[in-house]
Amino acid sequence: MIPELSSGSVLMKDPQRVQEILQSMSKAGINTLQVISDFDMTLTRFSYNGKRCPTCHNILDNSKAISDECRQELDHLLKTYYPIEIDTSKPVSEKLPLMVEWWTKAHDLLVEQRIKKDELAEAVRESDAMLREGYELFFDRLHEHGIPLLIFSAGIGDILEEVIRQANVFHSNVKVISNYMDFDESGRLKAFKGELIHIYNKREGALLNTGHFEELRSRPNVLLMGDSLGDLNMADGVQDMKYILKIGYLNDKVEERKQSYLDSYDIVLVNDESLEVPNAVLHYLTSNK
Ligand code: TMP
Ligand code: MG
Repeated sequence: MIPELSSGSVLMKDPQRVQEILQSMSKAGINTLQVISDFDMTLTRFSYNGKRCPTCHNILDNSKAISDECRQELDHLLKTYYPIEIDTSKPVSEKLPLMVEWWTKAHDLLVEQRIKKDELAEAVRESDAMLREGYELFFDRLHEHGIPLLIFSAGIGDILEEVIRQANVFHSNVKVISNYMDFDESGRLKAFKGELIHIYNKREGALLNTGHFEELRSRPNVLLMGDSLGDLNMADGVQDMKYILKIGYLNDKVEERKQSYLDSYDIVLVNDESLEVPNAVLHYLTSNK
């Protein structure tokens, strides 16, 4: 049905079910579809030429906007907490408070730096952040068909927006839920706004944004894309959901995590730095009438 699903990097526990969901969604039509995607390591690349690509936080960590001392502290936090984030031997209940600790410490360090709002664009320009191959087609097709794209990120909204703005894909159908910076009157970072979004509370984040999902009530079918098991909760606010197709990027610790990803995501993409599969799915859904 979709040739790209036969690629070696695509794993599915139940291909038959994937086919049924796709057929049902196709039949329902694109006017019933909404897309919800994570950002870091889902829309952006995990690695390029063997080198890790930065998350929103890492873009700041590596920039001139912060001191060397702060950079070292943030790097220390990353080395401490990232292995916990991807550790399959620990239950989420045990990891959750540690993730809150990571985000809180990192945000406190960033606030101490009193980062200037006008330094963010340069930090993004000079960074190695890269959207996955095929991103233009992905964003442009959704825009062209008027399909709403919600980017739901535990990263930093201001940085995320700058990445997609600089890539010329911040179209009018894109809405972002993320951690946004709050600047004082001199344009320096003084805090982060609202409730913290971390890797394991996207459900709570979704429920705080009922207005967005209420507006999309006529679109009960969801294409969800993520790279963490926490991303599976991004659609928890969707009203009267009918069909959901979940595509998961398994970027790291593949063997250890494969089974849990296969159990939770309909389509699992391994060692795939492109948006080829989501693009093929969208091509099928938008052209098959
Ligand atoms: P996402 O929800 O857009 O994927 O963003 C969350 C990612 O951000 C998660 O994989 C961990 C990462 N992160 C950092 O790289 N550095 C940090 O300081 C923090 C708090 C998170
Ligand atoms: Mg992610």
